[in-house]
Amino acid sequence: MKLIKLDAIDSTNDFLKGISATQELENYTVVTAENQTKGKGQMGAVWNSEKSKNLIMSVFVKDLLVNSDEIYKLNIATALAVIEVLKTFSIKNLSIKWPNDIMSDNFKLAGILIENSFKSDGSITTIIGIGLNVNQTDFDNLPKASSMAVVANATFDKDELVVLIVERLKVNFELLSTNPDVLWKSYLDLLFKKGIPMAFSIANQKPFMGIIKGVSNRGKLVLLLENDRIEEYGIKEIQML
Ligand code: BTN
Repeated sequence: MKLIKLDAIDSTNDFLKGISATQELENYTVVTAENQTKGKGQMGAVWNSEKSKNLIMSVFVKDLLVNSDEIYKLNIATALAVIEVLKTFSIKNLSIKWPNDIMSDNFKLAGILIENSFKSDGSITTIIGIGLNVNQTDFDNLPKASSMAVVANATFDKDELVVLIVERLKVNFELLSTNPDVLWKSYLDLLFKKGIPMAFSIANQKPFMGIIKGVSNRGKLVLLLENDRIEEYGIKEIQML
């Protein structure tokens, strides 16, 4: 693993995207930053993180053995890698809120933003962005967020976490081609609020109740609705309230 440590940057994902366009990067080139001025979340959201407290990292990988239909599997492998590392630090009640928010009880500890570029030569480059709340303890403005420090009442070494997460990513990306069923089973076992009636919304429509049954083999959320129908929803279609 090649590690580039930055103090401040707009977004580690964008930084890595920029340098990968002009130079050949080794697989598992990693960029970390103490602070992001324009941290990106999913669906165009902003990712805020208190300066120096948390892990902000992006990992470059080229030509993982998935085709473009199976890109969502990278989300699964990455979410599991983060969970597996958190488990070793006794962070309790971990789950994955579909598609890839890392939760402890009802609080979000980490978010993942994976960006892929499809090159004209057929290759696919992937940038895996991970924001993990590590030592931040003040979440006054983010009532649904928490950190490892809050959950475990301890402080943690961010450098150690980077190494452990990258090691786990390597293992899980290998499993994607050798034994994906293992990853799939662990992911489904860890799904946040599986089997519990919850409110959902689809853009501009009134909320409705559904029960999470699982995730389809195309990465869609499978819900049992009140009319006993089973429906699948894509990432951009539905929100859990
Ligand atoms: C989300 O849950 O909305 C995804 C958050 C992803 C944040 C990380 S922090 C490192 C990397 N750089 C970014 O700009 N975003 C990701």
